[in-house]
Amino acid sequence: MRLAFDTVKWEDGRLIVLDQTQLPNKVVYRELKDVNAVATAIKQLVIRGAPLIGVVAAYGVAVAAYQANTKEEIIAAIAKLRGTRPTAYNLFYAMDLMHEILDEYDELEPIRDEILQCARKLHEEDRQICDMIGEHGEPLIPDGARVLTHCNAGALATTGIGTALAPIYKSWEKGKSLHVYVGETRPALQGARLTCWELMQTGIPVTLVVDNVRGYMFEKDMIDLVIIGADRITKNGDVVNKIGSYEIAVLAKYHNIPFYVAAPYTTFDPNIEKGTDVTIEERDPHEVTEIAGVKIAPDGIKVFNPVFDMVPHELITGYITEKGVITKFT
Ligand code: MRU
Repeated sequence: MRLAFDTVKWEDGRLIVLDQTQLPNKVVYRELKDVNAVATAIKQLVIRGAPLIGVVAAYGVAVAAYQANTKEEIIAAIAKLRGTRPTAYNLFYAMDLMHEILDEYDELEPIRDEILQCARKLHEEDRQICDMIGEHGEPLIPDGARVLTHCNAGALATTGIGTALAPIYKSWEKGKSLHVYVGETRPALQGARLTCWELMQTGIPVTLVVDNVRGYMFEKDMIDLVIIGADRITKNGDVVNKIGSYEIAVLAKYHNIPFYVAAPYTTFDPNIEKGTDVTIEERDPHEVTEIAGVKIAPDGIKVFNPVFDMVPHELITGYITEKGVITKFT
């Protein structure tokens, strides 16, 4: 299966991305002309989702490398991109690869070539990885399953068919009947705006619910399994993902429903021991006090807006990766 859009394109030396802030109302592609534009696009969720952030940031370094007159300027571009969002490990994985290239060469010409090649490789590999996650995850979804997902860990979050949605797409291709439930995912509404939009393009039955309906749905036996994505997986198997993931995992455990996390190895952080050590991004209060620019809370209200939370490994039934399904973390 291939969805009818590209989240990112490298065309004639130009970096072009699908502007996800415009979805589902408009399909708009934007060129990101320099590293500042790439950094702003990542910060403002023009592109988002851990694997896609990694690939776009890698191309961002390529853009910077072609514009740079010195190696120091490329190092500064990498630092800028590292500072955009703190949680998704894929960003840091990609930036570390870029640093390795800078450690190896001094001349700008080979640096530019290697950086672009590396970005292209990450892009192509991500596409293949999504397919493999889909293949490994597909057998976990029974015919007729009602699947709950969260946020957007689909094609829009990657350069392929997604992570959490990949097993769903593969199951649909095999002719299974399915129903996907999607929480709207406040504050930025990735579930409502993005996951619903991409699933509706494929014909897979999908129902949108507000986030606080989920307890009711578990209690009424409306969910057979949960699949979510991940922004970072620590050494002990804890998963950091979109705010609300923890709550779903607790509900799934209480109701004895399988809870799967689908993620590539580029999301596994070998340096951090446990989920509580991961920096959780807190975003602008306006994301909470406004919806689509319309004020929904009184002026001056105090806001707490963490956008990720941590699912402890003991709540996770399995990790669907490109190499297979891990059911036990050692
Ligand atoms: O804030 P976002 O939209 O970047 O958050 C995205 C998620 O939480 C996804 O579940 C995660 O990045 C995995 S994407 C395959």
